Amino acid sequence: MLDANRVMIVDLGDGLGRNIQESIGLDPESCKSASGEAIEDVLGMIERTNPAITFFGVSDAASQMLPLIERVASVFPKMGVVVAAPSDSPELILNLLRAGADEFFTLPCTPDAFKGALQRVCRKKGILRVPSASSMGKTIATFSGKGGCGTTMIAANLACNLSGLSGQPVAVVDFDLQFGDLATMMDVPAAHTLADAVGDDGTLDEDLINEIVVEHPSGVAVIAAPNDPADGESITGEHASTILKKLRGKYGYVIVDTSCAFNGCSLSVLDEADEIILVTDTLVPSIRASERSTRVFEKLDYDQESIRLVVNRFNPKGELSVEDLEKAFKLPIFHILPNDFDTAMAAIDAGVPVAEVAERCELASSLRVLAAKFVEGAEEQAPAAAGGVMGMLTHLFKK
Ligand SMILES: Nc1ncnc2c1ncn2[C@@H]1O[C@H](COP(=O)(O)OP(=O)(O)O)[C@@H](O)[C@H]1O
Ligand SMILES: [Mg+2]
Repeated sequence: MLDANRVMIVDLGDGLGRNIQESIGLDPESCKSASGEAIEDVLGMIERTNPAITFFGVSDAASQMLPLIERVASVFPKMGVVVAAPSDSPELILNLLRAGADEFFTLPCTPDAFKGALQRVCRKKGILRVPSASSMGKTIATFSGKGGCGTTMIAANLACNLSGLSGQPVAVVDFDLQFGDLATMMDVPAAHTLADAVGDDGTLDEDLINEIVVEHPSGVAVIAAPNDPADGESITGEHASTILKKLRGKYGYVIVDTSCAFNGCSLSVLDEADEIILVTDTLVPSIRASERSTRVFEKLDYDQESIRLVVNRFNPKGELSVEDLEKAFKLPIFHILPNDFDTAMAAIDAGVPVAEVAERCELASSLRVLAAKFVEGAEEQAPAAAGGVMGMLTHLFKK
């Protein structure tokens, strides 16, 4: 995640700093902004706080920010100078290059564009360990076209395993606003829920987002769905985007469980996700529902690479072979989880991760391997020792 102590954001009081904060998912309270300060004041602030990277919000090619950038770039040659602007006119880019900016991105920017800019500036300036771009608040949504495929089970276990494997702070949020059962599955009290962050007048109080988090014994931060389905109606797609942006500024991974419906809110959640785990089981209605979901994702122009098809409850002795499944789906299979109803039910009944019920069972191992696929360098450490046929399958479908 971005280390807010080593990042500074400067604008001229035109709101661009806030825009940058939102785009890069940095917690607004935790970064230093120098809106409209005189050049000498900004230089003094940079000297005092020693940021590795300073972001400048620039409105246009004639902005008064340009002389400031020029001064800063020459006085602090080791610091990364990144500029964000609402347009990318050639004149602006030329002026920025002349002023000594290292990187540029347009606002609002996609997480990928931002990560790319960050990586390049870190490489160019030899900045180590500042904002670890690859791990900056990755948002992963779990989605299924049909209920009962194991979406919530996967979300809960993914969050717990990611927490252990990545060592980063992890949050899991239940955006199944009507019948969300994540808190029950993780056995945490849902005294506060998403509905508490949105007032009766429909406004979201961003400060309350931290208050509705409940800590799971694994360290994972859990945000529960409303207890009353009616309360979910006040949560809009815009709320969902704001909540997820805020969370990704604070947590290394934000896992979002969803309902199996396409509506304003779930579409916003999916829009915010860097990767979508599309969960299916091997029953024909589930396969059909997954196909339909894939078509919707196509229409929405989602990058096919970001859709991770996970086949749950696979039975190697069942009617459908892996080859059949591959043909049925238009997507490559990202991961296969074995069918183990007794263990899955025991974990759900006890409100604990599967590994706590039977650490060495194939389902627990396979869930760990799934999580490892989202953590750089962890796959080698994760137990491919899932043994037997499933172990081989898991290995085969490793990406
Ligand atoms: N790999 C699995 N093997 C056997 N049963 C499973 C598996 N994954 C999930 N289940 C069972 O499927 C049911 C639905 O799981 P859930 O996560 O609530 O699905 P969804 O959120 O997609 O509706 C639960 O009873 C759970 O025990
Ligand atoms: Mg569910």
